[in-house]
Amino acid sequence: MNSNTVSFLKENIHYYTQGKGRCIVLLHGFLGSSEIWKKIVPILSKSYKVVCIDLPGHGKSDCLGYAHSMELMADAVFAVLKKLRIKKCVMVGHSMGGYVTLAFAKKYPEYLKGFCLFHSTAHPDSEEKKKDRNRAIKIVRNNPRLFIKPMIKNLFAKRNIKYLTDEIKFATDIALKTPVQGIIAALIGMRDRPSYISVLSDANYPIMMIIGKQDNVLPYNVLLEQCELIKEKHCLFLEYDGHFGMLENPNATGIAIRQFARKCFNK
Ligand code: MLT
Repeated sequence: MNSNTVSFLKENIHYYTQGKGRCIVLLHGFLGSSEIWKKIVPILSKSYKVVCIDLPGHGKSDCLGYAHSMELMADAVFAVLKKLRIKKCVMVGHSMGGYVTLAFAKKYPEYLKGFCLFHSTAHPDSEEKKKDRNRAIKIVRNNPRLFIKPMIKNLFAKRNIKYLTDEIKFATDIALKTPVQGIIAALIGMRDRPSYISVLSDANYPIMMIIGKQDNVLPYNVLLEQCELIKEKHCLFLEYDGHFGMLENPNATGIAIRQFARKCFNK
């Protein structure tokens, strides 16, 4: 594993790479870090060069300012690709990482052979969700732990909670390391993101959606509707998993991403 940083807007963006060959970029979600992919990287890096990036204000990457828009985060991802001289990749974005992937696809489409929305949506926040973000910002300012612990637990399918105590602890420990400024900047960026529906419907390359049927934050039927908009769609439905497929079902999701990448690169 090679760990490194790139300077972006005078701050450091951290990433690591593993494996050789064509490139798969993995982007974690809100309160995550590049470590979240640890069970999937070995599956992918047998055949591909895997690049795992800490998004701004998460993991070992610095904060860039008061708000981290999805476009700003996509520019940070682009800075990593430029440094690594990657001209084409398959990008996989978990939840908030999916919003960043969509922003990247809008701005830098020529760099993509395909992308995967891993428990993510192209819809913007509803008015209700925006209010939740504002409430969350207030709570995080006072007591981040109060926000983080229940939030992470809620991302696992209810039936998995009693079995996956190590995975819940692993995700919670990563989340608890996220600086308050990083949390708030991401909440503002997610709250204010635009609709990316046209990115899904206009793309002329394959798009995969990984959907957890027990996801407590993204309703299955809403994601299914989005799937229908994609010209070249690949869907993986996880019957018994929630919003954390890479921890709840690493083998199925890792293998599905590897197969999807092969299709994208062989086109
Ligand atoms: C995530 O896991 O990244 C979040 O659930 C995304 C969000 O809050 O919209």
